Amino acid sequence: MNRIPVIDGHEVVFAAGATARLGELLDELDVDRPVSVVTNSTVAPLHGARAASAIGAVPPFELPDGEAYKRWAEVERVCAGWLERGVHRGQTVMAVGGGVVTDTVGFAAAVYLRGIPWLALPTTLLAIVDAAVGGKTGVNLEQGKNLVGCFWPPSVVVVDVTTLATLPERELRAGVVEAIKAAWIGDHQLLDLLDRPLEGFSALRAEDWEAVVVRAVRVKAKVVRADLREGGPRKALNLGHTLGHAIESATGYERFLHGEAVAWGMRAAARIARGRDLLSPAAERRLTAAIDRLGPLPTLDDLDADTVVGHISVDKKRDDEGVGWVLPTDDGVVLDQRVTTDEIRQVFVDLQRDPS
Ligand code: NAD
Ligand code: GLY
Repeated sequence: MNRIPVIDGHEVVFAAGATARLGELLDELDVDRPVSVVTNSTVAPLHGARAASAIGAVPPFELPDGEAYKRWAEVERVCAGWLERGVHRGQTVMAVGGGVVTDTVGFAAAVYLRGIPWLALPTTLLAIVDAAVGGKTGVNLEQGKNLVGCFWPPSVVVVDVTTLATLPERELRAGVVEAIKAAWIGDHQLLDLLDRPLEGFSALRAEDWEAVVVRAVRVKAKVVRADLREGGPRKALNLGHTLGHAIESATGYERFLHGEAVAWGMRAAARIARGRDLLSPAAERRLTAAIDRLGPLPTLDDLDADTVVGHISVDKKRDDEGVGWVLPTDDGVVLDQRVTTDEIRQVFVDLQRDPS
């Protein structure tokens, strides 16, 4: 069994097929079995109920499915549910689902009784390689994404790649984008494993998947270990996210999946970096080719550039000097690059005109 320590008290354990024998696995790891599983209405019948039954917990608490439900009201509902079930401070809870579930439940665990331990069993590729790892938890406000939250790492993240078998292809692609991001930041050889058309991923066996996600998680764990609270190096993980978040927010979180918006954001960052001679044309081609091989993204065509740029102004990474961008270089990324509003508007319009 592969185990990647992230920081003290927060590790990622890879165990294909673990959902069905979760109780035994947690006993083996000497981790308290959670008393409550929180999942969503889609994941409950696929994996959530199985996970709850394997640890002998009551049937899972279900959130509604969708980014629109990553909100205060659900945190309150989850906390009230735990209170009703008598969950106390010495006990552990568990999130089973994608990034929306892990972000919401992690945040609820952080504030419930001023903080209780939690575990995560991420069931989307995006949550495995990114959302469930590193302890960022939170919910959205109407004004923007992830504007409320805190750092509250799950003690153990159990990765069971067999849960990916039920994931729709479009969601898989969104996850591959975050894996490409990790690869670009810290493991360019991983790009070779990811450089395949979307259909090529369906053919991967559990052990192949595990090889991919272990490498991506290793990159993220290294970054988080260096900087849990995003004072410096962790900003690298925001590659593609400044414009990505603005695109999601400007379209009401309905048209683009998070990973799809980040894919546009990475392409924009690559163009800006090439324009500044931070990225060679060959490296830009390599990064964009890896994204393009996954198939067409939802189009930017009818979006108003000024509206999208306007959404960057509520980005939580903003400070008095504006938003610092992460830009790709030939062998990684550079942080805190000032990109003017005019440059952002220009690159956005360029991508609309010539997405290739
Ligand atoms: P998601 O949680 O909405 O899941 C995507 C869809 O797949 C949902 O409909 C879900 O019900 C369904 N699903 C989940 N697992 C499934 C499975 N195994 N089989 C079939 N369907 C399944 O989206 P996501 O892409 O996992 O996560 C996106 C969220 O994560 C965003 O809110 C984003 O802000 C957040 N995020 C957080 C971090 C972090 O560091 N905390 C990092 C990246 C993203
Ligand atoms: N997904 C960005 C981070 O975890 O910092």
